[in-house]
Amino acid sequence: MSNITSSLNEFRRFAPSDEFIQQANITPHIYQQMLKKVNRNYTQYWADLANEYIKWHKPFNNTLDESNAPFYQWFDDGVLNVSYNCLDQHLAKNANKPAIIFENDSGTSISITYQELYHKVCQFANGLKSIGIIKGDRVIIYLPNGIEAVVAMQACARIGAIHSVVFAGFSAKALNDRINDASAKLLITANEYIRAGKILKIKEEIDAALSIAGAESIKHVVVHQQTNGITHIAQYRDIWWHDLIKNQQLDCEPEWVEAEHPLFILYTSGSTGKPKGVQHSSAGYLLGCILTMNWVFDIKQDDIYWCTADVGWITGHSYVAYGPLSVGVTQLMFDGVPTYPQANRFWQIIEKHKVSVFYTAPTAIRSLIKLDSIAPSQHDLSSLRLLGSVGEPINPEAWVWYYEQVGNSGCPIVDTWWQTETGCNILSPLPGINTLKPGSCNQAIPGIMVDIIDDNGDTIHDLSGGYLVIKRPFPSQIRTIWNNPTRFKETYFPQNIGGGKYYIAGDSAHQDHDGDFWIMGRIDDVLNVSGHRLGTMEIESALVANKLVAEAAVVSKPHDIKGESIIAFVVCKGIRPVGEAKKIANDLRNWVGKEIGPIARPDEIRFGDNLPKTRSGKIMRRLLRNIARGDTITQDISTLENPAILEQLKE
Ligand code: WT7
Repeated sequence: MSNITSSLNEFRRFAPSDEFIQQANITPHIYQQMLKKVNRNYTQYWADLANEYIKWHKPFNNTLDESNAPFYQWFDDGVLNVSYNCLDQHLAKNANKPAIIFENDSGTSISITYQELYHKVCQFANGLKSIGIIKGDRVIIYLPNGIEAVVAMQACARIGAIHSVVFAGFSAKALNDRINDASAKLLITANEYIRAGKILKIKEEIDAALSIAGAESIKHVVVHQQTNGITHIAQYRDIWWHDLIKNQQLDCEPEWVEAEHPLFILYTSGSTGKPKGVQHSSAGYLLGCILTMNWVFDIKQDDIYWCTADVGWITGHSYVAYGPLSVGVTQLMFDGVPTYPQANRFWQIIEKHKVSVFYTAPTAIRSLIKLDSIAPSQHDLSSLRLLGSVGEPINPEAWVWYYEQVGNSGCPIVDTWWQTETGCNILSPLPGINTLKPGSCNQAIPGIMVDIIDDNGDTIHDLSGGYLVIKRPFPSQIRTIWNNPTRFKETYFPQNIGGGKYYIAGDSAHQDHDGDFWIMGRIDDVLNVSGHRLGTMEIESALVANKLVAEAAVVSKPHDIKGESIIAFVVCKGIRPVGEAKKIANDLRNWVGKEIGPIARPDEIRFGDNLPKTRSGKIMRRLLRNIARGDTITQDISTLENPAILEQLKE
């Protein structure tokens, strides 16, 4: 595995402006002091931050307990409530400040203040208590993105119930699996909702999920009414949200919980096997959210912040439901899609609500580049001051488009690398510190000990790629896999890489001469051509740098001579080439040969209208590998955004 060859040569540099540096939360001077402190005393550094940023009900004495590694405990004798930190603490000064501005699919918006959100959360929390939900109970939330989803999550946090949000696009079977694994007592959902103008009958999905064996632990279903459609309400089991909160008090004393009390479980699909219930803590997780809101997003009290992620993903947990509220900022939420009614929806919303910090995913950016008929420049985006990217490597061409077209060459881009398991951003530029390099996540957040190691567990000192690892425990990290501590240990602290001492992220990466990190892709996706190990990311970037190409995914299939040969799946800007496909494929092969070198030239290029993606926008290279190799696809494809595309790519 070690020594993956890096072939991406990206030399464009974007230093922060003096103006940005001066107003940044982390200035070069503060930054140097932070690093000094971490190196002097690692645990003291974290203890000081936890004391400064969290409102404790009872302060902690123990900072880090490593005695049962890798089941680390942080601040474990401290007592707090996360919902108190997100709501109550702001009421003295900011009760009337908007907490959430919600823009719905059809283009109307509403705004609710911190005071109003507090009352909604308390009222709903009291409702949950009235049907017997207590500390430690698991509650599944299956709601479209919106204020109610945040209310439901915060209400669980308020009473110490452990929520598990399941993205509302998942199938009945996927939902049933998660209910079963978590032995959830309650399900919170909606009757129907509207997305891109279409009505989705979500409650029918619920009834289907509950009729399959394995969901017997569910005692009640709370249903939020979003449309006037006729909805089946099962007697005794189902309760309308509006009935549950009727006559409930508008205040609810928080349940004070231990720092390590699980705040939530979030299921994430591994490359094989059943989904893993990633379990997060209360205090350590909250601390990660607060710090990165301040450090990475450089949040100011007058920002209008918008993270486009759905609450069904970790990004929607850390950077919608918890992070923004914990720092008292005004945030925008949107439950529609970027292309409805037209492909300028994002720009329209930014203009309308004067968004200043905007955080989205490369897949959204690339799909909008593909449809560049309505350019961002046709909108007034001058309110923007910072942009963010998350979820996948952002190829340099998309990065530069985002920088120039959306940020008008005046906004730093924070390319944040992290995972469901890390809880918050791990690698990212700090916008007042780092010189940006398109495609690089720059550096670790101060205090997080990221490194790249080889098969022997040794640090790689040259420019070649290896395993991305985190060498010391950090507060926001995964605590365990729900119900499966053995799988937790084997997956993230495997004996065969680094001897079980380090957190293994599962990604490959390399560092450049400045020590900046470049993610190369998932370890499982690495190609091996004629003895050279190549990351998928770099070949894909080279393809997308061609003016004809909007998106690309690269996989390999076995080859007698070279070991593996490279197959590229390409989506062109405009329409899919048919007649001239052969010629374009040839041109693109030569292009990659010139950009990277003959070794990286794809042997075969296939064109499609799209690529198979998960609903969070990640390209499913595993499926493309099956297609390239002519294997039959056996895995569950119900979680794909666009399953039909598989047939087209097989042709
Ligand atoms: C995997 C984690 C992080 C929240 C959303 C995804 C990839 C994520 C980046 C980035 C390159 C990235 C990694 C990582 N990834 N961000 N900025 N650059 N790759 O969370 O579903 O847990 O996926 O997403 O491969 O391991 P997730």
